[in-house]
Parts: sequence; structure tokens; C-alpha cells
Amino acid sequence: MSVQLLVSAVLCIISCVICHRLYFHPLARYPGPLFGRITDWYSVYHSLRGDRHLNFLRLHRTYGPVVRYGPNRLSFSTPTAFQAVYSSQANTKKSYWYDTMTFYMKVPSTHATTNKKQHARKRWILSQALSDRMTVVYEQAFLNLLQGFIRRFHKVASHTKDGWSPSFDMTEEFTLLAFDSMGMFCFGESFGSLQDPKKAEIIENTLEGFRGMNAIGYMPGISWLQLDAFQSRVSRALKEYEAHATMLANRRGSGEGFTFPELQSESSLLVTTGADTIAAALANIVFHLVNNPDILARLNSEIRGTFSDLAEIRIGKSLNSCSYLAACIDESLRLSSVVGGCLMREVGPGGTTIDGDFIPQGVDVGVPFHVIMRNPDYYDAPLEYLPQRWLPETSSPEKIRAARSAFCPFGIGPTGCVGKSWALVEMKITIAQLLFQYDLQRDESGDTHVSSCMQRLHQRDEESLDRFVVTSKGPKVKFRLAKATGTANECTK
Ligand code: HEM
Repeated sequence: MSVQLLVSAVLCIISCVICHRLYFHPLARYPGPLFGRITDWYSVYHSLRGDRHLNFLRLHRTYGPVVRYGPNRLSFSTPTAFQAVYSSQANTKKSYWYDTMTFYMKVPSTHATTNKKQHARKRWILSQALSDRMTVVYEQAFLNLLQGFIRRFHKVASHTKDGWSPSFDMTEEFTLLAFDSMGMFCFGESFGSLQDPKKAEIIENTLEGFRGMNAIGYMPGISWLQLDAFQSRVSRALKEYEAHATMLANRRGSGEGFTFPELQSESSLLVTTGADTIAAALANIVFHLVNNPDILARLNSEIRGTFSDLAEIRIGKSLNSCSYLAACIDESLRLSSVVGGCLMREVGPGGTTIDGDFIPQGVDVGVPFHVIMRNPDYYDAPLEYLPQRWLPETSSPEKIRAARSAFCPFGIGPTGCVGKSWALVEMKITIAQLLFQYDLQRDESGDTHVSSCMQRLHQRDEESLDRFVVTSKGPKVKFRLAKATGTANECTK
């Protein structure tokens, strides 16, 4: 066959595939970007750029509540779709995207297990370790760690003329804390990164690895491309986790619950899912607080009025009574979603109905967290940080019900976050202790082009990277020992 003939045959096949995907495919009637409707290279491109979360916002703004962003993929943006895709009644399972993670592990972790029965067994074991009863057990170890973290700022703040410390990058700081905390949680000992920050580089390696995994997940065929830069970083990170997991298994014995290879895989999963999520969430909360001095001042007075000593700030009635703290955390999780992308689920045998549309078996469906939690149909002024929207004294029951219906930072159903209780405890204690001890102020030295809260949010969005977990740098924050005074920042809306 001549080369010319071969090229013509290939072009003819490609044209037929494009024609089928655009006009005769079962999803052909759904709107979406042309390139996305034709090929999954579209999603590979956005995964490698790390802007899937922002792209889904753009797509839904342009095309409406259902978007076809891959030949066989649909993204929805309503709470009813969220239930239909992720709840325990949903006729879906984790899509083959999750199989990518097993490229790196000997056995799939709970998160990477797509078989529903096997997933349920592993998840049950994990949920025992992460039950409410166990969070009380972990609390003391975490409080010890937190004490060291809080003291870091004390030393510098108390030695400056005006009492304000130099600025700290809070993403970097919280990464150290969260990483050490997950070391305690999984292996019974901290990684010591608060003393030696280099040790937390493993987190950046893992996140970069996830960027590669995201891309391969959309197109397993490209794994032969050996996205080397990503793969070598994730392999390096996993080797380190494995070394810790081996120590743990040898110490405690294996075979009860998880087998030894499963234990290695689970602990790698837990350190990553538990550390980078919490670090990102805490940094986002502080970002919104220092950008909204009135809100920060109100939260300061709630915390300083509830507790009279740092040691009182721990799990219990008093912490649970801090409703404004809970609202500030929820509002930050809503506005700055920690998990990006569109967690994909594959429709099971017999198909399913989503928002009145029949979706056939085998289609990948999902609801991007960033989109649903900024949906103006459920949130007034969705781009504003308004903790009061969650409180009965400042919001009507209907508004709160609507807001709750679209609120899903931890996912839902049998594959939702199994560490949610611990995550909430860790965030509440950390923010409360930090604000009890210090006044916080945004470092304004880098603010040459932005002057309003909205602009700063936009800038943070644009600089953020979706590598499964959405991370940003900063905010840069100064600390001053608290004298129960107000804050000094100005914010122009
Ligand atoms: C603010 C913090 C956190 C957020 C927003 C968050 C969010 C999520 C979400 C959305 C999922 C579903 C992922 C998917 O379907 O692919 C998930 C799963 C998971 N999370 Fe979290 N998470 C957080 C903290 C934690 C912590 C602290 C731990 C551990 C102590 C943890 C452990 C897990 C595990 C093991 C899974 C997999 C569950 C499964 O597949 O059944 N997470 N998380």
C-alpha cells in the first residue's frame, strides 16, 4: 500500500470517528466545546494545565446545566444530579479513571478501588479507624503537634517593634502541620517537617504525580508516553510512604483487616488525601478571613469570648457551640472547593435518569464541586464570602435549605470522604487556637494590581492548580499576639 493510500485511509477513519461523535453518538445532542465532543485530548490538556476546576466553571456558564466535555462524558451542575450520580442509590460506580492510581501501587487503595463490593469491604475497615470515637483518641497527639505550630509565630511576633511578625505563607505553614498530623495519624509519629520543612516536599511530589494521573485517567492509552516528570515524582513519594508503612506493619503486625500490601497502599492514600486537602482548606479559610476584616473581627470575638485559655480549645461542647466558626469554615469550603475537577462515575447496567434525561450504561458522569457550590440558583452573591448565609439568625430556613442542598465539599454516599469528621475537628481546633492566640493581618506588600476582595479571589482562582486537590500559594499573613483588639486591615469591595 502506498504511503498516500495509507494516509488517506487514516484520514478517512478519523473523519468517520469525528462524524460519529458529533452527529450519531448517543450523547450527540448535548452541548459542549467542539474539541471536547470529539476527543479526550481536551481533558488531557486541561489536566496538564491544572485548570480543570476553572474550565468547568466556564463550560457551565457557556453551555448551561449539562455539558458534554468528552466524547463519552457529561458534567451536570444541580443538586438533584449530584444525588443521582453519587448517592448510595445511584446506579453508578467509580469510573476507570480511578484505575490509574493502581499504576503506582501494588494493590488499589480504598480510593482507587472501582469494584463496589471490594470497595465496601476496604471502606468499612477504614471507617473503623476514622470513626468519631477514634478522633478523640487522635486528638491529644494532634494538640501536642499544634502547640509547636502555634509557638512558631510567637517567637517572631514578640521580637518586632510593632508586634507584627514578618509574613508567613500560610499554604506552606499548613502543609507542614497537616503532613506531620497525618504522620501521627497513620504511623503514630510525626514526620518532623515542622522542624525540617524539606521533609514535606513529598507532598508537592505527590500533587505533581496526581496531575499526570489525572491526564492518564482520561486516556489510559497515553500511559506509554511515560509522563516521566510526573511518574518519577510520584514513585519517589510512594517509596517514602512505603518505608513508613513497612515500619508500621512490622510494629503492629499485618493481616488483621488490611493485608500488608493493602496497608502500604492505604497509608499512602491517607497521608496524601488527609494532608494536602486539610492544608489547602486551612489556607483558604485564612485567606477569606484576612480579606474580610469584619468577619475576622466577629470570629475573633466569638472565640475569645468562648474560651479563656488555649488549652480549653479541643473537642467538646464549647467548640461545638462556636456556630460562627463552623459557618466561616463551611463558607470557605463552599467558595474555594478543595477538590477540583469532576469526580467521575460510570453509569451501570440498564442506564440511569439524571435531571429527567436517560443516560445509557457506560457513560462517565459527574458534578464538578466548584460549579455546584458557586451556582447562583442556590447561593445569593455566590462569589462573596458570607458566613452569615449559613446561620438561622441571618438567613431564612428556605435559603439555608437551598444552600445545604448544593453543599458537598466532602462528597456524599458510599464514596464520600471517610475522614470528614476528623477533617472538621482538625480545622476547627486549628483556626480557633490560631485566632485565640493572634491577631492576623494580610501582608499587603504584593498587592500592586488588586485592591478589592473580589479581585483577590479572582487572582487566587487564576493562580490555583487543580491536581485533584486544588492548591494555591499564600495567603501571606502577619501575626501579632492578641490583646483582644480588632484587626487592622482595610478591605474595599
Ligand atoms: C477539608 C478536608 C477534606 C476534604 C475537602 C475532603 C474531600 C474528599 C472528597 C470530595 C472525597 C471523594 C473523592 C472521590 O470520590 O474521588 C474524599 C475521599 C476520601 N477522603 Fe477526604 N477530604 C478531606 C480530608 C480528609 C482527611 C483528613 C482524611 C483522612 C484522615 C481523608 C480521607 C479520605 C479517604 C480515605 C477518601 C476515599 C474514600 C473512598 O474512596 O471511599 N479526607 N475526600
